[in-house]
Amino acid sequence: MIFETHAHYDDEAFDSDREALLSSMESGGIGAIVNVCASVDGLDRTAALMEKYPFIYGAIGIHPDDAPLVTDAVLDKIRSLLTHEKAVAVGEIGLDYYWHKEEEEHLLQQNVFRAQMDIAREEKLPFMIHSREAARDTLAIVKEYVQGGMYGGILHCFSYGREMAEEYLNMGLYLGIGGVVTFKNARKLKEVVEYAPLSQLVLETDSPYLAPEPYRGKRNSSQNLPYVAEAIARIKGITPEEVISRTEENARKLLGL
Ligand code: NI
Repeated sequence: MIFETHAHYDDEAFDSDREALLSSMESGGIGAIVNVCASVDGLDRTAALMEKYPFIYGAIGIHPDDAPLVTDAVLDKIRSLLTHEKAVAVGEIGLDYYWHKEEEEHLLQQNVFRAQMDIAREEKLPFMIHSREAARDTLAIVKEYVQGGMYGGILHCFSYGREMAEEYLNMGLYLGIGGVVTFKNARKLKEVVEYAPLSQLVLETDSPYLAPEPYRGKRNSSQNLPYVAEAIARIKGITPEEVISRTEENARKLLGL
């Protein structure tokens, strides 16, 4: 069964048909889903989803876009939600310099990122990283933490080149591969997928975002993951079934499931 490591089913894009969609996951070949919290508002919604659906797990954390909203009370709330037995990771956390250009914003994001990496270490949980146009600073922080002792992690929607991939793979981390790998112009990511060992790749959609071809631009769902598995299989010269089973194995090992 497909293991979806990164989706946002608490997003309002699913308000009209969430229940029907999630009920059809199993018949669509999706065995497990990690719903990844991104916003302060999403904390309770992610908790509710993992309570309600046996196959949904939770990643608890705040996306860099919401860094200005992260108070000590929010960090305490993250800690308390992580005690739930189905909370399997801290995420998504990291740096986004694409939408936020000011130096002051970068410093704030770095502090909030570090505070959540501290929590991942305290709780002995893996982390899920969002990093956009912040390659150097993300690598510096992740390296520092991994050297000090962490419990693994995923670079979600990996968007950097081969040299940067090598750095993360050498740290024993996983790369999250989604719909972008099916895009015609995704030369850089295809090179990364070719280079990375299958033992360090996991499948993800980032639903409702980043739908693969042939649905590019539409609302995404985990049921599109076979297109991602096929694209990876083509690049690596193996079968989609092998991609699906190995990436499931990788995700379960990392998340302790
Ligand atoms: Ni995401």
